[in-house]
Amino acid sequence: MISVMGATGHVGGEIARRLVKAGQKVRTLGRSREKLAAIQGGEAHAGDAADASYLASAFRGADAVFTLLPPDLHAADYRALQDRQGEAVARAVREAGVRHVVLLSSVGADQPSGTGPIAGLHAQEERLRALPDTNVLALRPGFFFENFYASLPVVKHQGVVGDAVKPDVALPMIATRDIAAAATEALLARDFRGFVVRELLGPRDLTHAEATRIIGSAIGRPDLPYVPLPYEDMVGALVAAGLSPNVSSQYVEMSRAFNEGRVRSLEGRNASNTTPTRFEDFALELAQAFRAM
Ligand SMILES: NC(=O)c1ccc[n+]([C@@H]2O[C@H](COP(=O)([O-])OP(=O)(O)OC[C@H]3O[C@@H](n4cnc5c(N)ncnc54)[C@H](OP(=O)(O)O)[C@@H]3O)[C@@H](O)[C@H]2O)c1
Repeated sequence: MISVMGATGHVGGEIARRLVKAGQKVRTLGRSREKLAAIQGGEAHAGDAADASYLASAFRGADAVFTLLPPDLHAADYRALQDRQGEAVARAVREAGVRHVVLLSSVGADQPSGTGPIAGLHAQEERLRALPDTNVLALRPGFFFENFYASLPVVKHQGVVGDAVKPDVALPMIATRDIAAAATEALLARDFRGFVVRELLGPRDLTHAEATRIIGSAIGRPDLPYVPLPYEDMVGALVAAGLSPNVSSQYVEMSRAFNEGRVRSLEGRNASNTTPTRFEDFALELAQAFRAM
């Protein structure tokens, strides 16, 4: 039996579906019993990720557990929330005696600070690394393709993609389904020992300008411009879009770290960290969502 946190989200959802398809018994975790009930073949365990006793009961008896720190765009203090969730997860893993844990971390999690939400993932890697009887695989993916869903309303209403990342900064970008594929394989094989890091970098590095061109051609607007925003303007735009001021600042701190080259692959690209889904193919799905808006 395998427990999957964030089972209604991008990565966890795909992992849960893949595990069920592989004939595994799966416990699905998230806050909403109704949303979890929609995952066919899973056993729903609803609760909050900062509640260690809930997590321990959902982890108990599992051969492996998939863990993440669920994002909260409205958090008053996002790093403090990450710490509460991270401590709860580590405590639950220890109390439930889980032997194999896959953690959804990020490229840049080698850095302890100055990287916005990624610094919270660094702290979580350290917590799990300290568990003496647990084997941990920390997956460090790049920037999710799915982040561009949040750009679609701006494309619709203002005719641009805008962000604080400089147009010519190339980042590893990846489809969440490719992260889920790697995580599922590891949860089933359980062949990692001690604390292991694995980067997942997508098929190639992409700049925001290039990604915008690809989105533009998928939605029939080949001239769609990418507009780099000053950091303060980006914070303002995110607050106007409904994010908390703290989460907005954290996001922009991360963009600054991208621009300054502090969030980067340590391994360098190779066959095992290069994943198959191309941004060009993902952009067709994005275009479908755009047309449905
Ligand atoms: N975006 C990126 O480019 C990127 C890159 C590298 C790493 N990451 C990391 O990836 C993680 C996000 O993964 P994702 O995109 O798959 O997540 P996601 O799609 O946002 O899904 C979040 C999941 O967590 C659940 N959840 C939310 N709040 C919760 C809470 N308080 N207690 C329990 N469950 C809760 C949600 O379910 P309900 O809403 O139904 O409760 C959902 O299943 C984050 O840790 C992020 O730092 C992101």
